[in-house]
Amino acid sequence: MMSDAFSPVSSRSGAADTQMKTVVILISGRGSNLLALLEAKLPGRISAVISDRGEAQGLAFAQARGVATAVIDHRRYTSREAFDAALTEEVEAHRADLVVLAGFMRILGDDFVRRFAGRLLNIHPSLLPMFPGLKPHAQALAAGVKIHGCTVHFVTPSLDAGPIVVQAAVPVHGDDDQKSLAARVLVQEHRIYPQAVRWFLEDRLRLSPDGRVVLQGEGPPAQPLIAPASA
Ligand code: GRF
Repeated sequence: MMSDAFSPVSSRSGAADTQMKTVVILISGRGSNLLALLEAKLPGRISAVISDRGEAQGLAFAQARGVATAVIDHRRYTSREAFDAALTEEVEAHRADLVVLAGFMRILGDDFVRRFAGRLLNIHPSLLPMFPGLKPHAQALAAGVKIHGCTVHFVTPSLDAGPIVVQAAVPVHGDDDQKSLAARVLVQEHRIYPQAVRWFLEDRLRLSPDGRVVLQGEGPPAQPLIAPASA
């Protein structure tokens, strides 16, 4: 039996949950961040999981929990604008208060980003602004940094450059390769993404009109930097 927080949108009827915000999650592949979000007992409703690839393994995590899924296959669209328009329509159909990119591998156009400004989050596996874009773990190893990590940020039209919400740091070990480093970072991704989404759903996190992150209740319950001693 799934919990109320993850009931599909068709079951929206109870007066008690009319205040709950609605989350739509976009994925492209494995879906481990999606799974962390699904299992986090968030104070909101995950109304849909949308993938740009029909073969994304993460779709099964949503289906197993009765969450609606949709595939907007980017290969069926001749332009990014047409893909973005179809994606916008699907996201709007699920009444998203918050759109969460969880390993979504398409670059979204400016129109999409502007439409969901202030309610569009992404996670990137590096301590931004270091190592944006592709292969951040390889970039970190090549640079020889001793500290790496992950970042949740609001999405803006500049790739991986939006206002930072929360970061978690991990050490880089001398014998690390991309796989071992990615695995260490992923553990922290699964920690900070549900945290950031929870803040948003609790109305503690917002983007101000001048593009600053406002996080209320700073201190232990709203700590935007995690540097675990045992990572
Ligand atoms: C994660 O490392 C995420 O930070 C990056 O893509 C990866 C997706 O992994 N954007 P998963 O699909 O959530 O397992």
